[in-house]
Amino acid sequence: MKFFIDTGDIAEIRQACESGMVDGVTTNPSLVANSGRDFKELIREICTITSGPVSAEVLAMDAPTMLKEAEVLSAIADNVCIKLPLTVEGLKACKVLSSQGIATNVTLCFSVSQALLAAKAGATYVSPFMGRLDDVSESGIQLIADIVNMYRNYPELNTQVLAASIRSPLHIVEAASVGAHVATLPPKILYQLYQHPLTDKGLAGFMKDWEKTGQKLV
Ligand code: G3P
Repeated sequence: MKFFIDTGDIAEIRQACESGMVDGVTTNPSLVANSGRDFKELIREICTITSGPVSAEVLAMDAPTMLKEAEVLSAIADNVCIKLPLTVEGLKACKVLSSQGIATNVTLCFSVSQALLAAKAGATYVSPFMGRLDDVSESGIQLIADIVNMYRNYPELNTQVLAASIRSPLHIVEAASVGAHVATLPPKILYQLYQHPLTDKGLAGFMKDWEKTGQKLV
């Protein structure tokens, strides 16, 4: 499973990438706004931190303007991935960009039918929002599983399922268990994946016993 980091915070991105576990970055208009940074400058800096895909979302609602914005964003760096909303206009733009070989991430996906359309539009990634479905008492993991299973019926489709709107380490485990290709996670969740009290307790015990030997390796 590939891990993307879902944030516009440069320091968090830099630190997470140093873990060796990060394969790319996703942003969205809210994350960019929260960063307080100039959008293009922020994406430019992120693209110098990771060589993996960096998702930058268009702001327009109509396909022609989305394509103009995509041209601006794609010019920033080779690893920019154009994020598009799952709308009629967004998928029109997706089809054009995909035909041009430009990486695309279709976002705000909440149903299997939407995911089918994203794949038909040639999306590189489709982002089903697990957490926001859970927030309204629908099953986010069930949607991920249903999309993965549906895509398996059509080997010719190349769209990767990018589990998004991750709220807990369990979301990552569940998404991986049903075969999601990618998960994009807030930095906090990445570090939670490492945590277990028995690991901490066991390591402390090893160190306590080792110190009794009085030895040093280096
Ligand atoms: O960036 C896309 C998605 O991961 C955001 O999800 O629900 O945390 O705003 P959310």
